Amino acid sequence: MRSPLVIGNWKLNGSKQLVAALLGELQRSLVPYHHQCDVAVAPPCLYLDQAAALLGQEGLIALAAQNVDNHAQGAFTGEISASMLQEFQVTYVIIGHSERRAYHQESNALIAEKFACVKRAGLTPVLCIGETAAQRTEGATQAVCTAQLDAILQQSGISAFQGCVIAYEPLWAIGSGQSATPEQAQAVHQFIRESIAQQDANIAASVRLLYGGSVTAHNAQALYAMPDIDGLLVGGAALQADTFSSIVKQTVS
Ligand code: PGA
Repeated sequence: MRSPLVIGNWKLNGSKQLVAALLGELQRSLVPYHHQCDVAVAPPCLYLDQAAALLGQEGLIALAAQNVDNHAQGAFTGEISASMLQEFQVTYVIIGHSERRAYHQESNALIAEKFACVKRAGLTPVLCIGETAAQRTEGATQAVCTAQLDAILQQSGISAFQGCVIAYEPLWAIGSGQSATPEQAQAVHQFIRESIAQQDANIAASVRLLYGGSVTAHNAQALYAMPDIDGLLVGGAALQADTFSSIVKQTVS
């Protein structure tokens, strides 16, 4: 049984004031859904310490990081390691987000190294994969997702997917206001699960597959109703407490 998971990716947004206000409101509004849905927020890493202190040990909301370095330590100016994230109560680490692939030239091979670092630190990778609009038009969606998954398999093997999270985020849906339809998303999620099942049926049955890309309070329920959609990775709508709470609520009702 795969429990629902909703992650709010705050991207490059926030301030000490916003962290306090948003987490305070979320803590109040999410109490009824505790134990029914796993919820995490990914603030910019500078605010993880503040967020960890505010969230305490209650386990109502977990913390996610938006990125991690592919080295454990050393002369890598400006970077943050998985073991550092672990010290700040981080549970999930988003890797391979399309914005990092596009703006920071992150390759499949680099992302595979990050994935391995996250696993070694005992944290849960949230691997983002997905195609561009042009790739979808060309009919290359499955090939793109396969290449992105294969990079991890080659580096770490199928067992690395045990307990990890994969987020299908078509690039054309991110921040565009144009979500994939539930049927479009389900088709790719089913493909991802079947691809993993070819190597290990148990891991395929337990891996959580999130959909991300213009998720709102209006489309969350229909997306989550799809059999292979186990949760949602929410960007813009995660910055409004009432909207994010409403999205969480729709995965439990
Ligand atoms: P969006 O972003 O919900 O604003 O489309 C999703 C994401 O990039 O994770």
